[in-house]
Amino acid sequence: MNIQDFPYIKLNIPDGSLEVRIEAFYSINGKDKTLTHVRQVAKTNALIAGEFNLDPGKSILAGLLHDISAVMRPNDMLLYAKTCDMELDESERRHPFLLHQRLSRVFAETIFSVRDTDVLSAIECHTTLKTGPSKYDMSLFVADKLSWDQEGKPPFYSQVKLALSNSLESACLEYINYMMENALLQYPHKWLLESKAFLETQV
Ligand SMILES: [Fe+2]
Ligand SMILES: [Fe+2]
Repeated sequence: MNIQDFPYIKLNIPDGSLEVRIEAFYSINGKDKTLTHVRQVAKTNALIAGEFNLDPGKSILAGLLHDISAVMRPNDMLLYAKTCDMELDESERRHPFLLHQRLSRVFAETIFSVRDTDVLSAIECHTTLKTGPSKYDMSLFVADKLSWDQEGKPPFYSQVKLALSNSLESACLEYINYMMENALLQYPHKWLLESKAFLETQV
């Protein structure tokens, strides 16, 4: 099964630079709100890149692409992942939208021919992180959480920002602990639990 097998996903992307084509893909698929969010995440991710000596070009690209598979319906995400023989976590079976992080990597590779493993890895784990995360993985994870797509600032904003002034590891752990202590996770993904255990050894 291919992305082309979901006829409601429009693939007639106009020509242009990679950034222009990515942004156009959200627009032609009616995802303008997601486009506003990913632009904000790209901007935040580039600012974090400046603080931690990362390549801002990679950070902007990862930010723009991280939610690219949101154009697919959640039940189709589950169907598609099964046909790709992806090993599924229980959290993904219960809440198929959680698969959007892994499928956004697939979209980045197949539709936009992205090959940079720093970018692809960060996209793939932007919701849950994973064990032994790279600085690009942690930067996008934090940028996504700080770029709230609702009114005002998220409740964890100041404590995660403060932790970020210490390290990327501290900021990620601060966010994960906040979500767990406040029972805000619908069902914990295995990768999130593994990343928490790993980060606790690092800070
Ligand atoms: Fe996401
Ligand atoms: Fe996001």
